Amino acid sequence: MSASAVDFSVWLAERAQHVEQVLVRVLPPDDALPARLHRAMRYSVLGGGKRVRAALVFAAARACGPVLTSQQEVERALAQDLAAAAVELVHAYSLVHDDLPCMDDDVLRRGRPTVHVQFDEATALLAGDALQPLAFDLLAQMPIAPELIVQAIRDLARAAGSLGMAGGQAIDLESVGMALTQQALQQMHLLKTGALLAASVSLGGLAGGANAQQRQALEAYSAAIGLAFQVIDDVLDVTADSAQLGKTPGKDAAANKPTYVTLMGLAQARSFAGGLHQRALAALSPLGDSAALLVGLADFIVLRDH
Ligand code: IPE
Ligand code: IPE
Ligand code: MG
Ligand code: MG
Ligand code: MG
Repeated sequence: MSASAVDFSVWLAERAQHVEQVLVRVLPPDDALPARLHRAMRYSVLGGGKRVRAALVFAAARACGPVLTSQQEVERALAQDLAAAAVELVHAYSLVHDDLPCMDDDVLRRGRPTVHVQFDEATALLAGDALQPLAFDLLAQMPIAPELIVQAIRDLARAAGSLGMAGGQAIDLESVGMALTQQALQQMHLLKTGALLAASVSLGGLAGGANAQQRQALEAYSAAIGLAFQVIDDVLDVTADSAQLGKTPGKDAAANKPTYVTLMGLAQARSFAGGLHQRALAALSPLGDSAALLVGLADFIVLRDH
């Protein structure tokens, strides 16, 4: 591994730990009533996950940041923490619902029993319901200009809604047993997974004070890595084992889901992700050296084994 790859993995581990601490603070305590719901929320969010979406917030903010006074530094760091926690909350909610028996019916997530197995289905449903508004509450507290807060709230709302993640999940369920065209599959992946990853990058840009040119570069980058992320998720479902993944592999084939692997085969799906990787890196060139962490995340998303 090169020195910069080592530096990147140290940075990613540190940011994952950091957002974990933020999440520990912003989630209601285990004993707040109703305690079972709060225990399920904390179980859903804490103690696992790669924290890629949080890392995208921090990396995108870093790629845009002008020189700041120390007071501005503190405020900008807090805005990033809140945005990073917000995207991880929406993501955790999406996983809790994705695993429900009426969706993918999974029993293992992040190396532990899924929330409906550990608690019960109604509690899992409510935990997801409650995580989502908490995310918007955090965005509303960001110490940035009010119009930027409104923009952030809209970005996350659209990414999570019927024209984003929830819509993509609906298409996923409707598509069981079907052979989708590449265009239709791409659309499903961009919605169910790409939208929230793109919102993470865009929130990072907002919290980091991105200008119009930087925002444009970030958008092109996130469109490519958002799709690549789900293509690699499809690949890993076939190639990885449950110890690596922390979830049950082989579920897509068992459920007869259309994926990039069923569409084009394993080798082609990998090389398609490689093309998206190159597209993401090319999109970053206007940002220069300040985008090094976004480069590291693109590499991680495509080359990961879990
Ligand atoms: C899994 O996301 C669900 C998808 C959108 C493909 P991640 O692979 O980011 O899951 P965690 O957060 O690391 O557990
Ligand atoms: C999940 O896609 C997308 C979400 C919005 C959660 P998958 O169903 O492929 O995710 P995993 O493989 O269960 O993590
Ligand atoms: Mg699913
Ligand atoms: Mg699933
Ligand atoms: Mg999957």
